[in-house]
Amino acid sequence: MPVMVSFSYIAAAVLFVLALKWMSAPATARRGVKAGELGMLLAVAGTLLRHEVVDYEWILAGFALGSAIGIPLAYLMPMTAVPQRTAISHAFGALAAALIGTAEFYKHPQHGFILGALVIEVLLGYLTFTGSLMAFGKLQEILPGRPLVYKGQNIVNLSVFAAAALAGIYLIANPSATWAFPVLSVLALLFGIMLIVPIGGADMPTVIALLNSYAGLAASFMGFALDNYLLVIAGALDGASGLILSIVMCRAMNRSFANVLFGAFGQVRTQGGAAEKRPVRSAEPEEAAEILEAARLVIIVPGYGMAVAQAQYKIRELYDRLTKLGVEVKFAIHPVAGRMPGHMNVLLAEADIPYDRLSELDEINPEFAQADAVLVVGANDVVNPAARTDSSSPIYGMPILDADKARTVMVIKRSMNPGFAGIENELYYMNKTLMLFGDAKAVLSEMNKSLAAQRV
Ligand code: TAP
Repeated sequence: MPVMVSFSYIAAAVLFVLALKWMSAPATARRGVKAGELGMLLAVAGTLLRHEVVDYEWILAGFALGSAIGIPLAYLMPMTAVPQRTAISHAFGALAAALIGTAEFYKHPQHGFILGALVIEVLLGYLTFTGSLMAFGKLQEILPGRPLVYKGQNIVNLSVFAAAALAGIYLIANPSATWAFPVLSVLALLFGIMLIVPIGGADMPTVIALLNSYAGLAASFMGFALDNYLLVIAGALDGASGLILSIVMCRAMNRSFANVLFGAFGQVRTQGGAAEKRPVRSAEPEEAAEILEAARLVIIVPGYGMAVAQAQYKIRELYDRLTKLGVEVKFAIHPVAGRMPGHMNVLLAEADIPYDRLSELDEINPEFAQADAVLVVGANDVVNPAARTDSSSPIYGMPILDADKARTVMVIKRSMNPGFAGIENELYYMNKTLMLFGDAKAVLSEMNKSLAAQRV
């Protein structure tokens, strides 16, 4: 039996590494998800074979309860709600790690390295639990999404964390001081809430990636405490990948960790939506369709609005019609377009847009100058030239898609309201820009109808 356990653990660890590798490219992402699923199945099956498992009643009850929650959660939550779905999953995972740590602490007297691992597991587990619940609440709009700040907040927060850490260190040095354990647990739960209060709802995806990393580290330390090397490996992979993801997201927004965690971004909307009353040129979908039809190269820039409108299938139809007309169509994918990593890739893949039509920022930027038309579908900040030119802008320095370099720019959005960063976009006021006002799905439908009526 131990041989079977070891074999399934090694196979699971290899599958987890491959899953991460494959999930990093759209073409292999599905394979990556399958590998991860198989790895998790082997990990669970291997664990059930361990000699410590004496009966299966409670495990079956847990399995039934978990499936009853997990399956509807996966099917009922829409794609746009994936960030909060991820947050709630982290909350459950972190709570499980913290509760196991708590049970281990009270079951046997602990000391030395194992006690150290337990303390870190419980600290990270509890703070990730309440932090992830708060992130869920903000994204689901159960809690106010705007950052709640007060003077001296960072000092208060750091003091609570320091007190929790000190209680942990005291306990490791004096294992008989068991009173320090509940103190540490309550402070960690409190810190999780306080950490998220000053962060704006729109920054939550980055924070969730960071909380994912904490949950992974908690699981890894749990592996040391339970002497389970697969947990150590899987937790470390989770911890490292979550951290890397949040670094990549920060870099793509040109923000530092400190700015995301302590910057209270989104608190003050620098310019209100209707504040500017400068004229813009607008056009009808039929005119836009004519421009696209006459183009040689069209670049489509999808953004958060495409996700809100669920316009990916209409984009696919437009792509098919234009391609049939001999127009070359490419898609420019900004790393932080939408509200979660890979948001645009997932939606476009859902509509079966060929992967080789999707280009990342560095690859596509030199091509905008050759494009006859750019069609911006519900994207705003990721094409805002202020990131290049206005050093006072909150997005200054963020790498953007150079949509303004194309011959004609067409933008589908419902109004002149700003995007996530809450700022004006000069792109909309350029002479070569045409605004196509309306819901992305509706406007694209009209464009497709117009193309169909003409020939295709
Ligand atoms: P945004 O700048 O948020 O702009 C989205 C635009 O879509 C809005 O201006 C909105 O204008 C329009 N829109 C909304 N619903 C629409 C609909 N039904 N039909 C048509 N248009 C609609 O989006 P973006 O350019 O994708 O940029 C993403 C932003 O999110 C960046 O600032 C990024 O830093 C931030 N962010 C991203 C992530 C990740 S990982 N992706 C994580 C955290 C933060 P109207 O209201 O006028 O329609």
